[in-house]
Amino acid sequence: MSTADMSTAVKARGLTVHYGDVLALDDVDVTVERGRICGLLGMNGSGKSTLFKSLIGLVKPDRGAITLHDKDPAVARREGLVAYVPQSEAVDWAFPVRVVDVVSMGRYGALGGARRLKAADRAAVDAALERVGLTEFAGKQIGELSGGQRKRAFVARGIAQEARLLFLDEPFAGVDKRSEATIVELLRSLRDEGRTIVVSTHDLAGVPALCDEAILLRRKVLLHSDIETALSAEHLGRAFGLDGVVA
Ligand SMILES: Nc1ncnc2c1ncn2[C@@H]1O[C@H](COP(=O)(O)OP(=O)(O)OP(=O)(O)O)[C@@H](O)[C@H]1O
Ligand SMILES: [Mg+2]
Repeated sequence: MSTADMSTAVKARGLTVHYGDVLALDDVDVTVERGRICGLLGMNGSGKSTLFKSLIGLVKPDRGAITLHDKDPAVARREGLVAYVPQSEAVDWAFPVRVVDVVSMGRYGALGGARRLKAADRAAVDAALERVGLTEFAGKQIGELSGGQRKRAFVARGIAQEARLLFLDEPFAGVDKRSEATIVELLRSLRDEGRTIVVSTHDLAGVPALCDEAILLRRKVLLHSDIETALSAEHLGRAFGLDGVVA
């Protein structure tokens, strides 16, 4: 492996995913360098969540190869390098768990939740809660939090985990402008620490303030470029189906 390869956070080659007859991802290549915030943009059903799920190992692609931090994805996950904040519709919020427990999972993983936290783990959990502004909500059930607060709880889990790579699937959906600004600031400070963030969003107006680069997805990668190019009318039109082409 060359030294240049060692700076890559996400590398996917030829990812193809079907759900039954539905082709959700078609030969997708993605490379994201470390220390970047990469926006994942595309219309409903364009495959954004499927791409995250493939990268995180929740969906098994028909074809394709993935490395995360130049490692096999299973190894990267086992080492705690990767954190995932799911799109909220995909989560059962009635699940009885406190905010502090969600964040603590970042230390042990969901399966080891019954283990006792050591002092250093507790300190990491407290610091993560503080960082996302949820200290006073630590003892609340996750289902009692607002949408924006839940997103922050999951980001705190990734922080407690000391993940180097964060996948956030629509963290701004249903979130007010003030909460969005808080999350954007937090993500940028995590990026400044050298972490890599891939974030899907429908808030195109917020993309320049957040992202260093963007991917336009429509089952295939239409474009992976700087923000200005990605947000040009021509490229957005293709991505969002305003070009007369039926998907
Ligand atoms: N579990 C599933 N079973 C069957 N089809 C699915 C499943 N999940 C997604 N799909 C289909 O795969 C395609 C891509 O869906 P995906 O959820 O990845 O899109 P998305 O870009 O995340 O959309 P949104 O912006 O609405 O979140 C869609 O056609 C969707 O209907
Ligand atoms: Mg989605």
